[in-house]
Amino acid sequence: MTRPALSVLVLAAAASLAGCGKVVDCDAVSTAWAGDAETFFGTYCVSCHSTQWTGDDRGGAPEQVNFDTYSDFLASETFAVYTQLTEGLMPPDGYDQPSEADRARIADWAYCGGDEQ
Ligand code: HEC
Repeated sequence: MTRPALSVLVLAAAASLAGCGKVVDCDAVSTAWAGDAETFFGTYCVSCHSTQWTGDDRGGAPEQVNFDTYSDFLASETFAVYTQLTEGLMPPDGYDQPSEADRARIADWAYCGGDEQ
């Protein structure tokens, strides 16, 4: 009895996860920091999220959230990058916005942990 009940629970959990937004197929993510994400962050994010800015120059961006380098990106919590992009919160309204395709591609990459190469 224990085993069938457990597998029903696991299936229910999987179903509710699947119903909660999209599930990213990480095997289908083919991009990387080098040659793609680095350019994306450089274009849309480092005007606020850069270690070269302090205080008011950061436009309110948290001090620990930077995208100058790959290790900055990792330290900024990859899942937070995913949610900010997919929810359309970053870049903030009024600033240059990426295309939907670029936004989705980089969000999926971040969701999957963000390969460097
Ligand atoms: C005009 C300045 C500005 C730009 C450009 C900008 N951000 Fe932000 N970012 C902020 C501010 C202000 C906050 C803190 C307030 C907030 O979370 O809304 C923030 C917070 C964040 C956070 C932390 C959110 C959390 O809750 O932990 C992440 C992650 C982030 N930004 C990612 C990005 C990404 C990715 C880009 C580029 C696509 C970007 N930001 C572009 C100003 C900016």
